[in-house]
Amino acid sequence: MELAGFMDNDAWAVLVEPEGKVHVVELIEGVRKIKGLGVFDAMATIAGVPYGSLVTLGQKQLTRLPPRLPELSKGMLRRAQTISAKDAGYFVAKLGIGSGDSILEAGLGSAGLSMHIARALGGSGVHVTVEPRSEHADVGLKNLTRARQSWTEFPEHHHVEGAIEDVISEITKHVETFDGIILDLPQHPSAIAAVAPLLAVGGRIACYCPVTSQVEHAWEACEQAGLNVEWAGELMERQWGKASKGGMRPVNGPFGHTAFLLIAQRTSVE
Ligand SMILES: C[S@@+](CC[C@H](N)C(=O)[O-])C[C@H]1O[C@@H](n2cnc3c(N)ncnc32)[C@H](O)[C@@H]1O
Repeated sequence: MELAGFMDNDAWAVLVEPEGKVHVVELIEGVRKIKGLGVFDAMATIAGVPYGSLVTLGQKQLTRLPPRLPELSKGMLRRAQTISAKDAGYFVAKLGIGSGDSILEAGLGSAGLSMHIARALGGSGVHVTVEPRSEHADVGLKNLTRARQSWTEFPEHHHVEGAIEDVISEITKHVETFDGIILDLPQHPSAIAAVAPLLAVGGRIACYCPVTSQVEHAWEACEQAGLNVEWAGELMERQWGKASKGGMRPVNGPFGHTAFLLIAQRTSVE
């Protein structure tokens, strides 16, 4: 829509509170209740506000920013536990995910990881997601819709409902071999055995394993499937900030654990 000489084609608006909390608001006409922000007409209030400018909603002043991956991730709908930028970025780099690739991902969950994969694939990749629980898929697919409607490039995306072990023939209707496979689900061995034959030579599989028994079982399952385990371990992230009396230091707060990661590669035809 054209407003004050400013063209606004965004389907979703990102509004950021001074403390950093991000709200992702659908730009549709009509007064409605928007969780955490109040009752207002999003289109009339936000459309046409340039990025970097303030939007006043009741007592709140929020800054409008473009709907980039970090903002859509921070403001995403959540249900299942999500993979954050620390581990998602490592998966994208270690699997070498880029335009033209075919990537298989299970489970979709809330699509925290999926948004990173879709962003890296851009407009010329194929992304197949798998999820057995419809209540998780509903949330994950809404987050992916926000991303698709916000970015100029988005991969061809297919979603398959079911446990990955049971839907291999559905998956291969879309893509027969994959350059990368990422598994974030409770039981890795049966999933690895099911999907390993779909991995192209040179392609890699990644497993996200919150506890040590999972990473051990994933390692064994990859070896049994004829894959070479390339790396397994954990990434530690330590944020720094300005100290009150000058200088920089690690900020106070939990030094948490997310998951152990495992990367394995198919290096031969089998
Ligand atoms: C922790 S969540 C995934 C979160 C997701 N990676 C994200 O970043 O938002 C794990 C998901 O795996 C799904 N799941 C469990 N068993 C599965 C299986 N056999 N095949 C596919 N998905 C499975 C669960 O229903 C759940 O939604």
